[in-house]
Amino acid sequence: MDNKLKLNININGNDIAVEAHADEFLADMLRRYGFLSVKKGCDTGSCGLCTVWVDEKPVLSCSYLAARANGKRITTIEGLQEEAAEFASFLTGEGAEQCGFCSPGFIMTVLAMKRELKNPTEESIKHYLNGNLCRCTGYVGQLRALKKYMGVD
Ligand code: FES
Repeated sequence: MDNKLKLNININGNDIAVEAHADEFLADMLRRYGFLSVKKGCDTGSCGLCTVWVDEKPVLSCSYLAARANGKRITTIEGLQEEAAEFASFLTGEGAEQCGFCSPGFIMTVLAMKRELKNPTEESIKHYLNGNLCRCTGYVGQLRALKKYMGVD
């Protein structure tokens, strides 16, 4: 018996009918449907690589069941290419682009932070991003880029 759930999800502005097993996580379902920007690092909710938005809020898609996304709006970096490219130019300007594996999840968190933090400080930026790890560990360059992008002196 086929025990897949039928879900209706808006992904990057498009209503899409998808199927997922009851125990399938959103990251795996999105990758299966071709959203390959969604990366997995730890697969345990610790590194932030798998960050996407659910109804405009960043979530760790490796730990979020696909079934919970039924009727919701999912955004991956494919849906925010212009904004993502703008922030990426700040990273390259500071030599902080590094290997790029963590970039999609990192940038999804940064773009959410840009919307959410009204008067950012260095400390509030660090706090917002403390769930996004970078295996290249180039946090100093990232922070320089972030401060310029967020308008922090
Ligand atoms: Fe989801 Fe690490 S892969 S938090």
